[in-house]
Amino acid sequence: MAYQKHINALSNPVFKTVSNAASQLNLECYVIGGYVRDYILSRGDSKDIDIVAVGSGIKLAEKVSQLLPGKPRVSVFKNYGTAMLKAGSIELEFVGARKESYQEDSRNPAVEEGTLEDDQNRRDFTINAMAISLNKDTFGELLDPFNGTEDLKNKIIRTPLNPDITFSDDPLRMLRAVRFATQLQFKIEEKSFDSITKNAERIKIISTERIVGELHKIVASPKPSIGFTILNKTNLLPYILPELSDLKGVDEIKGQRHKDNFWHTLEVVDNIAKTTDNVWLRWAALLHDIGKAPTKKFDKKAGWTFHGHEFVGSKMVYKLFKRLKMPLNEKMKFVQKLVFMSSRPIVIASDVTDSAVRRLVFDAGENIDDLMTLCEADITTKNPTKFRKYHENFRKVRDKIIEVEERDHIRNFQPPISGEEIIKTFNLKPSREIGIIKDAIKEAILEGKIPNEYKDAKNFMLQKGKELGLKIVKND
Ligand code: CTP
Repeated sequence: MAYQKHINALSNPVFKTVSNAASQLNLECYVIGGYVRDYILSRGDSKDIDIVAVGSGIKLAEKVSQLLPGKPRVSVFKNYGTAMLKAGSIELEFVGARKESYQEDSRNPAVEEGTLEDDQNRRDFTINAMAISLNKDTFGELLDPFNGTEDLKNKIIRTPLNPDITFSDDPLRMLRAVRFATQLQFKIEEKSFDSITKNAERIKIISTERIVGELHKIVASPKPSIGFTILNKTNLLPYILPELSDLKGVDEIKGQRHKDNFWHTLEVVDNIAKTTDNVWLRWAALLHDIGKAPTKKFDKKAGWTFHGHEFVGSKMVYKLFKRLKMPLNEKMKFVQKLVFMSSRPIVIASDVTDSAVRRLVFDAGENIDDLMTLCEADITTKNPTKFRKYHENFRKVRDKIIEVEERDHIRNFQPPISGEEIIKTFNLKPSREIGIIKDAIKEAILEGKIPNEYKDAKNFMLQKGKELGLKIVKND
């Protein structure tokens, strides 16, 4: 067989170092997996490089470290028979070629040594099983036993072996297939697709952390709906995000229908993906309607209603993040807040008053821009007149936000009168009155009764104190 040379893939000097280390140890080694795939796809220079050694990957890593300037530290993962080191910005991962692949949470180093071909057989997809030789005599030769290059050309995700075997080796691969199909905008070949559908339930044995890793990559893709459509079709979705599959379907009572909130959500996520790389804002778009399933009701007069779905949805965000072991920190709070506020700009858009906008900016704080972006992405009407009108309404809200901001500085609102000042002015002990006055000042500013200025707020405070029967003790 005539092998194609891919010397350009190996222009980084680190490959020569690995090659030298391997020949000193007298073993074969290859660069394999994502690096090769992305090189052939011209998908930029990947910084993660997987090296497979026919022999001990750990020994090879240690030798490579000795040959590199500064002898970088080698991290060894004995249970997996792998080792990792960093050479500048590059991360090299070494593994010994094996006959059996992956065993989730394997505690035994149950690795049976194999040839390169054995190892390629046990990889997830043909496009990830291509290897380039780092051996002196064949340096740069591509070894592609399953025609991964052809699948790359035809944009196909396919398992090297019978998909039932490949997926049962590591069921996460079903989700990886979906992730690659989404990131690369490839099709999953029919047999592999059918096998995912058949084996979907097996995803249950996979750790949440690994599942979420793939989910994030789907959400971060240019067109996340590709992934969620496949998750739906293969029936993986209910095992991973049942809150989303619960949004599926259109009910009809007395000729009244509501929209299919699952497909609507996917459109919203694609819309937002066009305008932001912020993965948490994308999550907010994905989850903004999840409260609609449990709040759905049919009312004889009003038709279909989803009262309080924003509040219910924001509570569900917490549970979902907890279940998926996603961070329960400010990222989760951000998603919760956006879901909770997701209808607010819509409610005021048709009648944009100063006070409504001031309240919106006050409540949204620094998240106001993201909230507006979410609401604009939420416009999925197919009626061009409505589409234009809704966007125009939001443009008015945005203009008003700028106007109100310039005048009233509401976004990082700090009440111009502190509790301390109220206490001193009326010589108060800690009491209800302090809160009442503070709230009244805030309300007066938001309502536009007084400007957001010290002097006006002070006069207002004095008047409010009088109304409450308080005596002014100090007034400078
Ligand atoms: N691999 C596999 N089965 C898995 C995970 C990984 O066979 N469940 C193999 C594939 O050959 C893959 C390589 O290990 O190419 C490296 O895996 P990983 O770093 O997770 O993915 P990449 O292919 O490098 O892609 P990306 O960097 O986009 O995650």
